[in-house]
Amino acid sequence: MMIPACRLVDLPRGEAYRLDIDPPVSVFHTDDGEVFAIDDTCTHQDASLADGWLEGCEVECPLHASKFDLRTGAVDAPPAKRPVRTHAVHVEDGMIYVQLSTDAPNLPPCVAARLAGGPA
Ligand code: FES
Repeated sequence: MMIPACRLVDLPRGEAYRLDIDPPVSVFHTDDGEVFAIDDTCTHQDASLADGWLEGCEVECPLHASKFDLRTGAVDAPPAKRPVRTHAVHVEDGMIYVQLSTDAPNLPPCVAARLAGGPA
C-alpha cells in the first residue's frame, strides 16, 4: 500500500517525520538529501527512532544507542540484534510517498503483543 507522508519541503534535511499508523513508520531526510522510510519502533525495546539522532544514512536509537542503517535496516550497533523493517519511498510532485513493505515487522515483544491485542 502506498501512503502519502508529507511534502518534501516540510521535512528539512536531518529531520524525521513519524507516520502514526500501526505500527508507526518514520521518514528520514538525510543531510545528503536522500529520503528513507523505516519502522519507527526500535527492534530492541519500545522507543521511537524518529526521536533518535540521524547521522549520514544511520539513525541512533534515543534509548540505548543502537544504530540502524536506513538503506537496509541492518543493525550497525547493539544492543538491538534484529534489523528494522524498511519501506520504499517515492517523491512525486514534491510529495513523499511510502510504499509499505509486505514483510513482517521486527517489533520488540512488548509492542508486538500490544498490537496483537495481548498484554503489553
Ligand atoms: S530501545 Fe532502542 S536500543 Fe534499546
